[in-house]
Amino acid sequence: MKKNNLSDFGLIGLAVMGSNLARNVESRGFSVSVYNRSFDKTEHFLQEFKGNFKGFESLQKFVKSLNRPRKIMIMVAAGDPVDAVIQSLLPFLQKGDIIIDGGNSYYKDTQRREAALKEKGILFMGCGVSGGEEGALHGPSLMPGGSKEAWKAVKPILSKIAARDFSGGACVAHIGNDAAGHYVKMVHNGIEYAVMQFMAETYEILRTVYKLSSGDIAKIFQKYNKGKLQSFLFEIAVPVLTKKDDIDKKSPYLVYHILDKASQKGTGKWASLDALDRGVTISTITEAVFARFTSSEKDLRVSLSQMYASKKKIKAVSRKKFEKHLENALYAAMISSYAQGYHLISKTAKEEGWKIDMKEVSRIWEGGCIIRAELLHVLNQAYQKTKNRSQHLFALPSIAGIMKKNIQDLRFLVGNMSENGVSLPAFSSALYYYEYMTAAHMPANFIQGLRDYFGAHTYERDDKPGIYHTQWE
Ligand SMILES: NC(=O)c1ccc[n+]([C@@H]2O[C@H](COP(=O)([O-])OP(=O)(O)OC[C@H]3O[C@@H](n4cnc5c(N)ncnc54)[C@H](OP(=O)(O)O)[C@@H]3O)[C@@H](O)[C@H]2O)c1
Repeated sequence: MKKNNLSDFGLIGLAVMGSNLARNVESRGFSVSVYNRSFDKTEHFLQEFKGNFKGFESLQKFVKSLNRPRKIMIMVAAGDPVDAVIQSLLPFLQKGDIIIDGGNSYYKDTQRREAALKEKGILFMGCGVSGGEEGALHGPSLMPGGSKEAWKAVKPILSKIAARDFSGGACVAHIGNDAAGHYVKMVHNGIEYAVMQFMAETYEILRTVYKLSSGDIAKIFQKYNKGKLQSFLFEIAVPVLTKKDDIDKKSPYLVYHILDKASQKGTGKWASLDALDRGVTISTITEAVFARFTSSEKDLRVSLSQMYASKKKIKAVSRKKFEKHLENALYAAMISSYAQGYHLISKTAKEEGWKIDMKEVSRIWEGGCIIRAELLHVLNQAYQKTKNRSQHLFALPSIAGIMKKNIQDLRFLVGNMSENGVSLPAFSSALYYYEYMTAAHMPANFIQGLRDYFGAHTYERDDKPGIYHTQWE
């Protein structure tokens, strides 16, 4: 904090995220200049929030109001608006100034922007921000990637505004070069899709097989939230499931009237497409994306449901016993989905030349972000004991212990509920991922034989090196 009339930090984009982040930075003792394309939002912001803020209608004056090296965070809609803002800033910036894109930008855009700005001597960081509106104001989880020099300059500010981890440290770390931060945020969102799909499948089992009301299901989430499944998403399940309906007073819960079509903004799809390109399995995340697509086919589903009678639901075990199976199955499935996301990050990091420490990623996800959970601390501690911080989660001894203890419950859940006609795309794929990843043998030998038969695609043998082709008939 320099003692002159210039601001410590600049923020462009005063929608929900930007205005809350600006307030967060200011509340930690920094002076903040703000700018928004439509000036009325800037005026409104300055009227509503009193403090060490300066607002500008002219971008040039905004830039001039900042201490050097200038630290400017952009919080605008992802895509072309980010390029538009960067282009309009360029004439006023000087070498060594820093731009931080805190939006949900596609990581390849971040790579392109970082390379182009480096040539001009401008330091660019792509920074994943998670925690929504509340997080932005009180402490988000921050995933900055890009120039190390820029990181050194912004670290004092980002460390103060970030959420706290389980040991009281700041939920922020330099993730890696160029787009590493935005990549990690994309996978974070993918895991978020998977966790929410597990929760939705849990809800559906309890609603249809055990015939529980939304209020009773909320009690189960509340109970789970006190144990190993403690997490922000389980915590908010309770108000979402118990909120009364203001419009239909006869309906006990609002959730009964919410249309069963889930939307998305695309980060889960990006993660899935990238995993397909890189040849890495993140089937649970992708199943969660597909489940949202299928949910959107409401009219077709309704008409087909009239042709296909639904299967009669049969309870296999008492509710009390089932709740225990379900808790353990959820735990194993969650770890499986994290293992998939972490493996994607580690493989990409290797290909892109980023050095990503998965212990640090787990630590900065302990607080502030949407997937914050007790489990993240377990993952953090599991990596603590190894020097190889990009190892597959299943290879860590403490995680292997947890998986072995809980996997039978996941097998039971998938088998039993499939018989009951409940769709479990996320639970099933989490189980199959585990089964295949921990299997010394897969039936891919048969696939190779078939491919060689119809297309002379050749195969390798398990007893001798070389490439083989067989005349099968
Ligand atoms: N909402 C969340 O919970 C959340 C969480 C994490 C990350 N994010 C990410 O954070 C970023 C900001 O999110 P948000 O929800 O606060 O805002 P948003 O609705 O995504 O974007 C609105 C902001 O972008 C500005 N903008 C749009 N087009 C522009 C252009 N061509 N040039 C200059 N400015 C332009 C708008 O300015 P005007 O007022 O002039 O239109 C406004 O300030 C997004 O990338 C979002 O994905 C959001």
